[in-house]
Amino acid sequence: MYLENKTAVVTGASSGIGRAFSHALIGKGTTVYGLARRMNKLKEIQKELGERFKPVKLDVTEHSSVETWVKKTFNDTHLPEILINNAGLATFGDVDQLSVSDWKTMMNTNVNGIFYLTRHMVPLMKKNPEHCHIINISSIAGLLGNPQISGYNATKFAVRGFSEALFKELRYDGIKVSCMFPGSIATDFFDTAKAGDTHPNMMMPDDVASTLVHLLETPDNYLISEVTLRPLNPKPPENDD
Ligand SMILES: NC(=O)c1ccc[n+]([C@@H]2O[C@H](COP(=O)([O-])OP(=O)(O)OC[C@H]3O[C@@H](n4cnc5c(N)ncnc54)[C@H](OP(=O)(O)O)[C@@H]3O)[C@@H](O)[C@H]2O)c1
Repeated sequence: MYLENKTAVVTGASSGIGRAFSHALIGKGTTVYGLARRMNKLKEIQKELGERFKPVKLDVTEHSSVETWVKKTFNDTHLPEILINNAGLATFGDVDQLSVSDWKTMMNTNVNGIFYLTRHMVPLMKKNPEHCHIINISSIAGLLGNPQISGYNATKFAVRGFSEALFKELRYDGIKVSCMFPGSIATDFFDTAKAGDTHPNMMMPDDVASTLVHLLETPDNYLISEVTLRPLNPKPPENDD
């Protein structure tokens, strides 16, 4: 896809890799609707990126709000080409310590949120004569189960299954579906997750964004359906001093 003058929706645009995706897409000439709950953060990003970044206060777990926003924003003369389902969070901990509320928040955000937005965006993409692309952000935790992240694992495995089914379902409508499985990235994610086991050599959001742009810019009949991203050495470089 040629990204100039295309229209993208990026969820979780207020921080981390969603913010980096927005920067990268604006740099390519795309208009970006950046969705998140914290409007103050989105407005700061708009000051940096300009008017082609459209801040949208939206909680992806609220189906009726998602439906209302999609219907008021897009129509037959204004159709989206790109959807980046990125909003997500984790609460880590032993299964017997994980609260029902934290489990539901992860499921609602990481799984239900993707479904809610996708189900309203797909009919618009089917109408779009341009090729379209949906990219879902899973995680290494969508490929490998590990202790203390069972709830998060369950949501990110679900994102993988949803993505694979959609790629097979939507390919004949000219809609690509890709799923990204990143390892650890230096964002606020681990603060939200209250995780103690971070390391100082994580991937950088801009590098993840360059891979996202690469997926989007592939030729129309060329789909990278899944991509795994890892820090080469998840430890700090040796200090020779
Ligand atoms: N960091 C990592 O190591 C890593 C690795 C693999 C995968 N991932 C995945 O990457 C994605 C982005 O995470 P990040 O690392 O960039 O973390 P982050 O900096 O904490 O960003 C998370 C984003 O999700 C948004 N969000 C959370 N709940 C939301 C809701 N209900 N409605 C709308 N937006 C919501 C947040 O915005 P508001 O709070 O303003 O709503 C924020 O913009 C997540 O899906 C995460 O699982 C992260």
